Amino acid sequence: MTRLVAKPAPAPSAAVPAPVPQQWTVLDVIRWTAARFSERGLPTPRLDAELIVAHVLALPRVQLYVQFDRPLSATELPDIRALIKRRQAGESVAYLVGKKEFWGLDFAVDARVLVPRPDTETLVEEARARLDGAEAPRIADVGTGSGALAVTLAKLRPDAAVFASDISAAALEVARGNAERHGVAVTFLEGDLAAPLEGQAPFSLIVANLPYVPSADLAALPPEVRAEPVLALDGGADGLDLARRLVDAAPALLAPGGTLALEIGAGQAGATAALLTAAGFVEVHVRPDLAGIERVVAGRKP
Ligand SMILES: C[S@@+](CC[C@H](N)C(=O)[O-])C[C@H]1O[C@@H](n2cnc3c(N)ncnc32)[C@H](O)[C@@H]1O
Repeated sequence: MTRLVAKPAPAPSAAVPAPVPQQWTVLDVIRWTAARFSERGLPTPRLDAELIVAHVLALPRVQLYVQFDRPLSATELPDIRALIKRRQAGESVAYLVGKKEFWGLDFAVDARVLVPRPDTETLVEEARARLDGAEAPRIADVGTGSGALAVTLAKLRPDAAVFASDISAAALEVARGNAERHGVAVTFLEGDLAAPLEGQAPFSLIVANLPYVPSADLAALPPEVRAEPVLALDGGADGLDLARRLVDAAPALLAPGGTLALEIGAGQAGATAALLTAAGFVEVHVRPDLAGIERVVAGRKP
């Protein structure tokens, strides 16, 4: 197998002019890396390769496409190689490059927060639909992590007052940085679930992507997921411990007609919908993600 090392220039010949030294180009290295990742069974090999190369070259990923023929320097190659090794050892690309795209926005991420997932965009879609026609809505994102939901909703609804809470002070530091990065005003509050929102004026919408992995399933998660904060993953015995507590607390925080929308794991829709109904929510409905998995349960306070 070819190794990812600088290719030596061919020896000059007296008869033929020395050719330009053959070097790894951007496209060479992307292809090589994607092939290695594919051999390892990584789910998105080409994308991971492009994200790593773009990061080392300090380019937006789309710029790679117009620089495919660019030769890589002797310092860029070892930097890429180091990240490839870490990816192969199970680190997530988002932590390696320090960012993740969500709803078309770049969010800074590190080991203090869960990497925002494309599935969570389903919750943004639900929120957007629920807020349609509402003037100057008041929105709360409980368990904000990187701030992906709060910041995205603040971008989508500049007229909204957006609050975001988390029990992790470390996560809130990351979220604050992301709000600054995207130039939105979000009020960040530290504390357990709904507690920091008590005493605020009633909300039109509460969104939450709380930890929902059943505790017994944590050990079987892929290594890159296990590298994320356990506080962001562990949902207790059936995965619904935090959802259960928030569903109970939410009616006191919502304005009449306000919505609670929760992201859930596969197979949790029925139980979560039953929790909302038992807590008095009406028009409880489930929204699938792009893969057709029931991903969001939402209900309205009468
Ligand atoms: C699954 S992550 C979601 C992060 C982010 N909202 C997203 O969608 O990418 C869950 C978040 O809930 C937070 N969390 C866990 N337990 C909590 C609690 N009791 N009260 C408030 N936040 C909590 C974690 O710190 C973590 O940031």
